[in-house]
Amino acid sequence: MDELAGRVVIVTGAGRGLGREHALLMAQEGARVVVNDIGSSTSGEGSDPQPANETASEIRALGGECIAHSDSVAEWTGARSLINTAIEHFGDLHVLVNNAGILRDRMLANMSCEEWDSVIRVHLRGHFCPSRFAASYWRDQYKAGHREDRSLINTSSTSGLLGNVGQSNYGAAKAGIASMTIIADKELGRYGVRANAIAPAARTRLTEGLSSQVPDEGFDPGNPANIAPFVAYLATDSCDLHGHIYFIHGGTVQLMQPWALHDAISINDRWTIERLRDSCSQFADTRFPGIEALSDSTE
Ligand SMILES: NC(=O)c1ccc[n+]([C@@H]2O[C@H](COP(=O)([O-])OP(=O)(O)OC[C@H]3O[C@@H](n4cnc5c(N)ncnc54)[C@H](O)[C@@H]3O)[C@@H](O)[C@H]2O)c1
Repeated sequence: MDELAGRVVIVTGAGRGLGREHALLMAQEGARVVVNDIGSSTSGEGSDPQPANETASEIRALGGECIAHSDSVAEWTGARSLINTAIEHFGDLHVLVNNAGILRDRMLANMSCEEWDSVIRVHLRGHFCPSRFAASYWRDQYKAGHREDRSLINTSSTSGLLGNVGQSNYGAAKAGIASMTIIADKELGRYGVRANAIAPAARTRLTEGLSSQVPDEGFDPGNPANIAPFVAYLATDSCDLHGHIYFIHGGTVQLMQPWALHDAISINDRWTIERLRDSCSQFADTRFPGIEALSDSTE
């Protein structure tokens, strides 16, 4: 029950869905938690402090320690205030879980600039801004001799890593988050920071109608609470996982392979189009497993 005792954790988008489950479990495990959520619609419209306040009330009712914060993570000043809230109220920051997100699905041929920008902004910039302020704090702490395990946990998606129709904006952001995670791990490892990302699949308001229904009996693989134990594990100070992306669904934790070099053609000269036409035919029928290969996936 106290796997996270002494840890200070921020969870963004923790008013609902997956983030709420992460925050509740980590608080039950003894972490002091900043519950961030702007309280927007699924498409990112509006704001309401109630979802963040509700999760915070649930945590307190369970005897946990937390504080609610409802600024947007995609805003520079909101993200700075989020990181400062953890440090000012709880004296430190050990774990940042970037989870807040929205959807504006549209086929590429019909997508508006606003639909593209808003999704890229909340996900990609909404991961960057809090990570930026956490990273500079963690670097300064390390240089001042305060050497502790720090964990950055990002939220990617198979929609980006495997590609899902109708989600070029969301997929681009989520693939970008996976790359950002790998680079953050390489940059921040020297300060004791481990960076990982999850690509979750669960039933929330974002996946309504796509994910499995609650089974009549037995284990419910779509329950969003199934994702939280792995996130909490990544947050523990004894965890040594870093630089990875994990697909998480129900009782499955699957390490994803990053972009990798595959089949090659090579000559000791500059290619001509004509020679490429002949040689590239060996690539033409190569297909990699896509999102269709996932059983009972969501987004
Ligand atoms: N549910 C799934 O199966 C699934 C699959 C892959 C990835 N994800 C990702 O998991 C994360 C959580 O999604 P969810 O399914 O729990 O959705 P959700 O809609 O239930 O929760 C997301 C929360 O983020 C908040 N939010 C939105 N914009 C914000 C901003 N700018 N600042 C702060 N908070 C903001 C919303 O108010 C909402 O409460 C998202 O990043 C989503 O893309 C979910």
